[in-house]
Amino acid sequence: MSRKMKNKVITNLLIERIASEGKCLGHHEEKVVFVTGVAPGDVVDVRITKGKSSFMEGEPVKFHEYSTERIEPFCPHFGTCGGCKWQHINYDLQKTYKRQQVLDQFQRIAKVEIPEVWPTLGSEKTKYYRNKLDFTFSNKKWLTIEQIQSGEDFDRNALGFHIPKMFDKIVDVDHCYLQGNISNDVRNELRTFALANNLSFYDIRNQVGLLRNLIIRTTSTDQSMVIVQFGENDPEGIQKVMEFLNQKFPEITSLLYVINTKGNETFHDLDLVTFAGNDFIEEEMEGLKFRIGPKSFYQTNSEQAYELYKVARDFADLQGDEVVYDLYTGTGTIANFVAKKAKQVIGIEYVPAAIEDAKINSQINGIDNTLFYAGDMKDMLNDEFIANHAAPDLIITDPPRAGMDEKVLQMLLRLNAPKIVYVSCNPATQARDVALLGEKYKVEKIQPVDMFPQTYHVENVVLLTLKS
Ligand SMILES: C[S@@+](CC[C@H](N)C(=O)[O-])C[C@H]1O[C@@H](n2cnc3c(N)ncnc32)[C@H](O)[C@@H]1O
Repeated sequence: MSRKMKNKVITNLLIERIASEGKCLGHHEEKVVFVTGVAPGDVVDVRITKGKSSFMEGEPVKFHEYSTERIEPFCPHFGTCGGCKWQHINYDLQKTYKRQQVLDQFQRIAKVEIPEVWPTLGSEKTKYYRNKLDFTFSNKKWLTIEQIQSGEDFDRNALGFHIPKMFDKIVDVDHCYLQGNISNDVRNELRTFALANNLSFYDIRNQVGLLRNLIIRTTSTDQSMVIVQFGENDPEGIQKVMEFLNQKFPEITSLLYVINTKGNETFHDLDLVTFAGNDFIEEEMEGLKFRIGPKSFYQTNSEQAYELYKVARDFADLQGDEVVYDLYTGTGTIANFVAKKAKQVIGIEYVPAAIEDAKINSQINGIDNTLFYAGDMKDMLNDEFIANHAAPDLIITDPPRAGMDEKVLQMLLRLNAPKIVYVSCNPATQARDVALLGEKYKVEKIQPVDMFPQTYHVENVVLLTLKS
């Protein structure tokens, strides 16, 4: 019956509470309706976009009442741009809702027995907190209904962010509140230069155009890495752009480019060219230096990463004689961060370049009790590996959004480490994995950490201890 509801409009739906993935929910004829772009307390007419037998999904088409919890979003791109979906909710409530999401995932959905979930550890910076942004060049600038209806001719070149669910439309970003330092200046100056010099912006449908993508990474130590992706191998055009950036922004400490004529924007498999400066930037934490290459992962909110790692380290409560496995170690940041409190730390990660960075990070910090291995976790963490290394007293695991592979979870159950500290950017998969580990482990502590203010995303740290 609900399938027939598609495109129907439900009127005067009261939005009752927050649900997962930034959606909210209300009830219509005893069925749950998940709605995007609203806040608890709103009363709205909702157009149904998906109708299933047990629930519906929809989007607001008319607001009858606005929730008293709403605040005025500060960014003019709010609502169009794909980021910062919670700017209309005040920050204290964002933190409450993030904690609620963790609770829902563990208690209601995965049905895991848990102690009290601690209040979300908030981010001091609620704007300009990101150290990495990825902008796309496009010849299909997103135009508003008013712009289209005006009949005016608009330049369609844009440099900014993708419009959700539209792979070729880009919102031309004027000011982004997510990244500070030189980010807005570099993007805007490069756009102006490209337009003045008639350089082509990428046409994703036809896969042509010189300027394809711009990545800006910054550090709390004021270093910056700028990577330009070119969609065509045009040495003259490339030289022009890179020379311009180098002259205009001598403060860029790592200026790189890559020619990418593939069908997608990823460049893990491509060679980057260092145009000026180093081929890395360095972040600092408690006096430790972390080298970040253009292909390496680093937590995108540096200040909160420090808070997150401190929570993980507190939960670990290391005494100095433990063997620690740091699974999904990335560039070994957690491994190196806890190394001086452990006997040995063994990090595993499947990106070989990240493992090389992890080793360098140990080296430059004079840390000599770490070992790092590259490979897929489900293949690496096998009986032979365990036989060749000491058994872990503590496992720290920080998998990608999909959570841990079933084979890895089965191995953890066999390893019997007294403690597991599970760091996750997706409480849904984390709760699913913890439920499975529940056969042997109980949840001791839960601390949500907010790495991404103005969004529904939440990082969550769980301490598991072996049941006696
Ligand atoms: C959320 S990041 C954690 C990084 C690190 N703990 C940190 O704080 O910087 C997850 C990492 O898991 C790695 N990864 C994803 N799937 C993997 C797999 N199947 N086997 C090993 N590593 C994997 C990714 O490359 C990424 O570096």
